[in-house]
Amino acid sequence: MQSSETTQLARQRQEPSWWRHAVIYQIYPRSFADSDGDGIGDLQGIRDRMSYLARLGVDAIWLSPFYRSPQADAGYDVSDYRDVDPLFGDLDEFDKMLSRAHESGLKVIVDLVPNHTSDEHVWFKEALASPVGSPARDRYIFRKGKGANSELPPNNWQSMFGGSAWTRVDGTDQWYLHMFDTKQPDLNWHNPEVHEEFIRTLRFWLDRGVDGFRVDVAHGMIKKEGLPDAEEGQVTNVDGDRGPMWDQDGVHDIYREWRKVLDEYDGDRSMVAEAWVSPERMARYIRSDEMCQAFNFPYMMTPWNADAYRRVIQRSLDEFGKVNAPSTWVLSNHDVTRHATRFGMPNPGTVLRGISLHTEQPDEVLGLRRARASIFMTLGLPGSAYIYQGEELGLPENTTMDDSFRQDPTYFRTNGKDVGRDGCRVPIPWKAKAPAYGFGPDNSAHTWLPQPDSFARYAIDVEEKDPLSTLALYRRVLKLRQWYDLGNGEVEWLDAPHKDVLMFRNRDVIAVINMGDQTVPLPDLQILAQSQPETMDGLLPGNSAVWMFAHKR
Ligand code: GLC
Repeated sequence: MQSSETTQLARQRQEPSWWRHAVIYQIYPRSFADSDGDGIGDLQGIRDRMSYLARLGVDAIWLSPFYRSPQADAGYDVSDYRDVDPLFGDLDEFDKMLSRAHESGLKVIVDLVPNHTSDEHVWFKEALASPVGSPARDRYIFRKGKGANSELPPNNWQSMFGGSAWTRVDGTDQWYLHMFDTKQPDLNWHNPEVHEEFIRTLRFWLDRGVDGFRVDVAHGMIKKEGLPDAEEGQVTNVDGDRGPMWDQDGVHDIYREWRKVLDEYDGDRSMVAEAWVSPERMARYIRSDEMCQAFNFPYMMTPWNADAYRRVIQRSLDEFGKVNAPSTWVLSNHDVTRHATRFGMPNPGTVLRGISLHTEQPDEVLGLRRARASIFMTLGLPGSAYIYQGEELGLPENTTMDDSFRQDPTYFRTNGKDVGRDGCRVPIPWKAKAPAYGFGPDNSAHTWLPQPDSFARYAIDVEEKDPLSTLALYRRVLKLRQWYDLGNGEVEWLDAPHKDVLMFRNRDVIAVINMGDQTVPLPDLQILAQSQPETMDGLLPGNSAVWMFAHKR
């Protein structure tokens, strides 16, 4: 049956939209699988390994950008939104990959980067070649500098990657805004041409059959009128006023416009916001005529502490519930230190990225133990969950990368103070004994970032053979989540045996997650899955978790 027919049927039966409960696997195309041996993953690599994803038991995949790009920010600097970069293949290969995914029962979400283009986009080249005040310049945010000779930036905004958010156009009094790298000029979303262009791009990919979009920097496209200076602390404070460049009310008009376009298409297409804001503000992005989902970053930023998780989970359910939207649950992505490593840091969870490896080293064993326990929480909650490629293997961050390999602009723009995000973007290991751990075709040893020796232990071929591996655990937990329909359930908090324990019921499953170090008693119920192999005898060891069947046999 065609997926559009399935959706029609679901609508008739009033089944919830797929994205309300889906488990979505993030593919970082540069690092998933390389089919041509150039050391960079590609679309054919994804197509060739689709059966692995289908077997894992996820519902959809989200692909980070594979569009034409000079790769100054690993593809988040797009020079042509409607073409595939030759590094990754071509449009024909995209279509083949998409069909393979659909044949395997997987939906496909692609990334949309609307806040900025690459400086190599035709529009920006045209803007630089055109006079001040011209229509071509109006597509971006150019302003006259301050100071007698315009030698100072127009305001005090800082780039998210470090340094000023403004770059001066050589030999003129004009500066252009880039909230990220110099090579990522911000678009002017007050310009109607920008709106039209992105609607064309949405339609282009929807017509090809994609099931939705992940919208990059969704809280950034509209800046406060007059571009006033930011106050101290505004930019980093996710829980308060984020400052004049973020979370302005005008962004919502854009999503209403886009949602109308999505709704013209059959098949329940979806949109997920990358918006670094509090749950209260986030709920505004997922009102019924805007986006479908938003990444729950407050959940991701929570330290390994039962009380903190209980609060953030309840707050998310309350806020998202008010707008009748599902919550999402996410612990890792291509921008933060992998959670298997975060949870093993001396101060777990408080440092999302840029860990100073000079002063702190993670405990890999403890981190993995906690990461295995954490999926009993993430996948036990109702709503939609995101998995970042490699986390199903328990993969740690590459914390031993030599600085000479670093590529993330954050590293360069902060003069190495922030090591950046390369450590979580390392090509994943497929075969323990092959060159590059089987990332490329036979005997190809190239990888765009170096893999640490420890990756041999996490290789897919090793974990596939081991019934106690993290991969086996993910497969089991994903199957149970689907069987008990936890995505469509509800959370009922239960009295936990200890303050460090999180205990809740969702449908017929009771999840018990022990975030402390001490062993605690378990209810006298049947265990459906456990994060650690040791025999329990009614006891749950520290930093481990179980799912239990809620009814006595
Ligand atoms: C988002 C992406 C990140 C990128 C930035 C600029 O935060 O997830 O990888 O660097 O936007 O596009």
